[in-house]
Amino acid sequence: MKKLLLIVTTMVLSSTIFAQGLKDYSAKHGFTMGAGLSYDQIMDVEILEKAETDFNTFTATNEFKAYSLLNLKQSQESKNKMPVMNYTKADNMCLAADVAGLKIRGHVLVWDAYMPDWFFRQNYDPNADFVDRKTMLKRLEYYITDVITHFETNFPGLVYCWDVVNEAVADSQSEAAYNDKCRIRKTRGGKENLFYTVIGQDYVEQSFKFARKVVNKLNPEIKLFYNDYSTFQYSKKQAIIELIKTLNKKEKLCDGMGMQGYIGGYGTQGGCMNKGDISTIKQAILDYAALGIDVQLTEMAVRNYKKEDSYTKQHAEFYKSLFEMFKELNSGDKKPLTSVSIWGLCDNPYLQTKDYSYKMNGPYCGIYDENFNNKSSYNGIVNALK
Ligand code: GLA
Repeated sequence: MKKLLLIVTTMVLSSTIFAQGLKDYSAKHGFTMGAGLSYDQIMDVEILEKAETDFNTFTATNEFKAYSLLNLKQSQESKNKMPVMNYTKADNMCLAADVAGLKIRGHVLVWDAYMPDWFFRQNYDPNADFVDRKTMLKRLEYYITDVITHFETNFPGLVYCWDVVNEAVADSQSEAAYNDKCRIRKTRGGKENLFYTVIGQDYVEQSFKFARKVVNKLNPEIKLFYNDYSTFQYSKKQAIIELIKTLNKKEKLCDGMGMQGYIGGYGTQGGCMNKGDISTIKQAILDYAALGIDVQLTEMAVRNYKKEDSYTKQHAEFYKSLFEMFKELNSGDKKPLTSVSIWGLCDNPYLQTKDYSYKMNGPYCGIYDENFNNKSSYNGIVNALK
């Protein structure tokens, strides 16, 4: 691994010393650029070179999530009864990121989706009953502490922020308790949110408290984020604002709002590249920033399902308008937007329509084509920022 990284370092450094990338343009407007990359992508020298040129930070698409880190067998055998994590893949990604000078958005500590059910059960036995609240809080604290500590100890300063909780606010009140203004989700698509079931509505606050305690001890510079989707839709935004106000009432538990940023129709071209979305996103950035926290676009993907020239052109124009808005927002002394991370970085024409990523991103949402060449959408961003 070390030898490979040495070769990569030499290649990366020699090829990118003079190149201007997206991060150089965004820096002039006070925000950083990031990229969502999978394990295979960050291990690919060519992609790592591109990332070094264009981005300040990267987010592992799945490998830092609990479902990737938790080890069932070792947890069942653990002497102190606390969960056991396997960090091998995530560590390799840290090494690669470090070589390319990329800081890392830690994503994510607590997310109900895809969470292994056994984590909530007695002796981590998939067939046993759920543990009680007290035991679950202990496990949660242990998990959060161990993960933050692992990365900060092995790669000091590399993980510059953590999404502490992802997607805890429900899309509608019907998925939450009727009197809960923060609308913490009890269910997702009909499935129970086990953090809610076993701990209760305050699992979000408890998670932030645990994370705050660790970063205060290890490195108070690490920023703690709440991250969610549809954050620019009015009623969801109101619920998120309530949540952040609650979190920050007594002490500042939450430093930042992560707006995922999937824009356009889910799974279909209809509703994509609607100019109205740009002003709603702008308003949302201002509203979250007014809470005295950082705002980042954490999973920016302008969906596009068609390869035709007219759509490619529209996509590039949309990216340009979007970044013109970001530039304008940050043109005063106050810089409400601190970072933009692109998630569906490159086109993926081979995606099957039934594939989750097809619906989430669309096959032509990239700013790079499928061979990692810059597309007109990439140039749209440059033209907006230069
Ligand atoms: C959510 C998560 C991401 C990723 C996408 C799907 O937005 O926050 O980590 O899993 O879904 O690509």
